[in-house]
Amino acid sequence: MEYKIALIPGDGIGPEIVREARKVLDAVCSKYGHKFIYSEVLLGGASIDVHGVPLTEEAVETAKASDAVLMGSIGGDAKTSPWYKLEPSRRPEAGLLAIRKALNLFANLRPAYLYQELKAACPLKEEVIGEGFDMIIVRELTGGLYFGERKTVEENGIKTAVDTLSYNENEIRRIAVKAFDIAMKRKKKVTSVDKANVLDSSRLWRKVVEEVAKDYPEVTLEHMLVDNCAMQLVHNPGQFDVILTENMFGDILSDEASMVTGSIGMLSSASLNDTKFGLYEPSHGSAPDIAGQNKANPIATILSAAMMLRYSLDLDREADAVEAAVQKVLTEGYRTGDIMSEGCRPVGTAEMGDLIAAA
Ligand code: NAI
Ligand code: MG
Repeated sequence: MEYKIALIPGDGIGPEIVREARKVLDAVCSKYGHKFIYSEVLLGGASIDVHGVPLTEEAVETAKASDAVLMGSIGGDAKTSPWYKLEPSRRPEAGLLAIRKALNLFANLRPAYLYQELKAACPLKEEVIGEGFDMIIVRELTGGLYFGERKTVEENGIKTAVDTLSYNENEIRRIAVKAFDIAMKRKKKVTSVDKANVLDSSRLWRKVVEEVAKDYPEVTLEHMLVDNCAMQLVHNPGQFDVILTENMFGDILSDEASMVTGSIGMLSSASLNDTKFGLYEPSHGSAPDIAGQNKANPIATILSAAMMLRYSLDLDREADAVEAAVQKVLTEGYRTGDIMSEGCRPVGTAEMGDLIAAA
C-alpha cells in the first residue's frame, strides 16, 4: 500500500532521531512491499529560522494532506537560544500548540512499558515490578481545566483566581471510544480514572464511559479515583492495560508513569483526532545539550513510528515487527548512553538506527 507521511525533524536532536526512524520505516517498506511518500514540514525553531514564525499555514496544509505526521522534537535552550528572546506567541512551543489545535488532536496516548533489560533503571523495587508492566495512558487533550474560562478578580483587596473545569458528553464519549478501541488491540482492560466522589464533571465522565463500554462487551471496565491511581502506579503497575482519563489528571499521571519506566529516551507518544490521523513524537524534548553529537537515543522516535503504523495506517503486523526489532537489539546488549549499563555494547544514534532497521 501507499501512504503519505509528513516528517517534522524539528530542533536539537530532532533531525538525528527522525533520520533513524525513517531508516526503520524504509526497512518496513522493503520487507512488506509498502511505499511511504514523505514530505518534510518545518515546525518550531527550524520554522522561525526560515519563515520568522514557528508554524506556517502551508505546514498545516501539508500535515492535513498526509495520513500521519512523525515528529522529532522542537525547542532550544531557553537560556541561550535567540528563539526565546521573541514574545511567547512566536517561540517554538507556540508552533506545537498551534499545530495540535489546527489538527484537532484531542486524544493523547502515552505508553509506559518496562523492558526487562532496562529494569536496573526502574526506580521501583523488584517485588513491585513483578512480571513487569505494559500500560498506555489515554489522556483527553483539548478540554477540561486547561481550556476552561479563567480569571482573577479582586474584592476588598483580596485576589481570587478562578479556573473552570467543564466537559460535555460528546467530548467524553469521543475520548472513551478511542480508549476502548485501543483496548481491543491490547489486553482488553480499561481503567477509567476520575474523582467522582467530589466532581460533577467526573460523575458525568463515569456515566458516559459506562455507556460507551456497552458497545465493547469484550473489554473489562473498572473505575479508579485519581489519588488511588497515583498510588497504584508505584504500588502495582502491572495491573494496568489502558488508563483513560481527563486532561489534568492525564498530564500528571502520564509523567508519573513515564518516570517509573526509568528511561526517557525510550518513551513514545501519539496525539489523535477523530479520524485515523495522528501526530507521533517521542515523549522527551529536543535535548539541546547532546544535539549533533550522535548521542541521542532514537528508540522513542522509532517506537512512535511503530505507533503510527498501528494506529494511523492499520499496519499491526509491521508495528509488531518494529517493536520486536527494538526488543531484539536491546536483548543483544546494544545501548545508547542514556540506557547504558555495565557489560553492554555502547552505540551512537546512527548505529542504533542501523541495528533496528536491520533487525
Ligand atoms: P529534554 O527531554 O529535551 O531533555 C532532558 C534530559 O534528557 C537531557 O539531559 C537530555 O539530554 C536527555 N534526553 C532527552 N531525550 C533524550 C534521548 N532521546 N536520548 C538521550 N538523552 C535524552 O527536556 P528539556 O531539557 O527540559 O527541554 C529541552 C527543550 O525541549 C526545551 O526547548 C523544551 O521546551 C523542549 N521540549 C520539547 C518537547 C516537544 O517537542 N514535544 C517536549 C518537551 C520539551
Ligand atoms: Mg506534563
